[in-house]
Amino acid sequence: MEVIVHENYDLVSRAAAAIVAQTLNAKPNAVLGLATGSTPLGLYQELVRCHRDEGLDFSQVVTFNLDEYVGLSKNDPRSYYYFMRENLFRHVNIAPQNIYVPSGTTDNYQAFCTWYERRIQESGGIDLQVLGIGSDGHIGFNEPSSSLGSRTRIKTLARQTIDDNARFFDRPEDVPIYAITMGVGTILEARQILLMANGAKKAPAVAAAIEGPVTSRITASALQMHSDVTCLLDTDAASQLEMIDYYRWVQAKHPGAPVRASRPHFSSHPTVRYDAPPARSPVRSNGVGSL
Ligand code: GLP
Repeated sequence: MEVIVHENYDLVSRAAAAIVAQTLNAKPNAVLGLATGSTPLGLYQELVRCHRDEGLDFSQVVTFNLDEYVGLSKNDPRSYYYFMRENLFRHVNIAPQNIYVPSGTTDNYQAFCTWYERRIQESGGIDLQVLGIGSDGHIGFNEPSSSLGSRTRIKTLARQTIDDNARFFDRPEDVPIYAITMGVGTILEARQILLMANGAKKAPAVAAAIEGPVTSRITASALQMHSDVTCLLDTDAASQLEMIDYYRWVQAKHPGAPVRASRPHFSSHPTVRYDAPPARSPVRSNGVGSL
């Protein structure tokens, strides 16, 4: 796990956009896993700017979003589909048929979850997965106690998550109780993962995810099992990391380190090429999981 701490949210957003842009430049038909929430907003704004001012091309890109509220339609301003359309999709040249967001209104969730997993596989698997983190340590909507091998399924939201997300709704009781989310197992199959966090409110979850034990109580801690995770944090989100001095040391020493050819985002070595790993063999995806 690579932990990179920036002074502020703007720098985190720009660093995240640079990683996404490098992936797209090296692999124009990359498959991106995308997240919603306030954390990636700056990333999306920067990607829109890169598209407008620098010609960053999304024409062959395929995207899969992590999650959606059950009961909210695509045109509901509180839905994650709407969020993605307003903050990214309608501002870039992505093909509508290449956009996948879990449906909050399907009449057969189990079949939908199975189909969603299959579409990810058929698209070649996710090259780069963007993640935020919930204050209870969740990724996607994989609430505490989610299986670390879970697949796309319906989850019941934790009280804390409902309270956290109430700010996007008129009344707390309007926040949906259920969501459809990629599983932790689904997320871990991405070839590269980018976890973003900012603000002091996220500091305990970030510390638990990066330095705590791997546990289903903090589903982001499962990222410790993945071989290519970059955590982009602002100083507030990083404020409870015990090994912060070490991460800063590693960051400072990057320019002199031998090049890792498979990393698209080793910015000190601009000549590095990104060779996407070969597509993985299909995995079992039954879309069934615990509520
Ligand atoms: C929701 C989403 C997560 C997101 C989290 C944090 O629970 N399902 O994907 O990471 O909110 O949101 P924010 O970035 O607004 O703090």
